[in-house]
Amino acid sequence: MRKGHLRGLLGAALLALPALANQALAEDEAMAAAGKAVFHQCEACHSLDTSKNSFGPSLYGVVGRKAASVPRFAYSKALTESGITWNETNLRKWISDNEGLVPGTRMRHVSITDPAEQDYLLAFLRSLK
Ligand code: HEC
Repeated sequence: MRKGHLRGLLGAALLALPALANQALAEDEAMAAAGKAVFHQCEACHSLDTSKNSFGPSLYGVVGRKAASVPRFAYSKALTESGITWNETNLRKWISDNEGLVPGTRMRHVSITDPAEQDYLLAFLRSLK
C-alpha cells in the first residue's frame, strides 16, 4: 500500500509542475494585457507597428536596449548623451518622471507612479519583441 501512496504523491507533483508553469505564463500574459491598456497613454507617439518610428521611436525590444539607439530617429541631444540603458529601474524612473531622469528630453512629461500600473506597463514592454 505504501508504494501505491508514494506513486500517487509523485504523480500529483508531476501533474502540478506544468500547471504551475502555465499559471506563471498566464500571469505574465494577464499583466501584459493590463499593460497594453496603460500603454494607451503612449500610443499616440509610439507606434505598435513593429520597428516603425512615429512621433516617438519604436519601443520594440526597448527593454535592455541602449537609450537613443533606434536608427533614423532624431533623438534629443539630452537623451543621446544620457548613457542610459533601458533596464527595469530606468524604465520605472522614466515613466514616473521622464524629465527628472533626463532633463531636456523631447518626450512630453509622463507620470505613471502607481507601482501596479508600472508593473503592467513593464510586462507589456517586455512582450514587445
Ligand atoms: C507626446 C508624445 C509622446 C508620448 C505620449 C510618449 N512618448 Fe515616449 N518618447 C517620445 C519622444 C519624442 C521620445 C524621444 C525623446 C528624446 O529624444 O529626448 C520618446 C522616447 C521614449 C523612450 C526612449 C526610447 C529610446 O529609444 O531610447 C521610451 C522608453 C519611451 N519614450 C516610453 C514611453 C512610454 C512608456 C510612454 C507612455 C507612458 C511614452 N513614452 C509616451 C514621445 C512620446
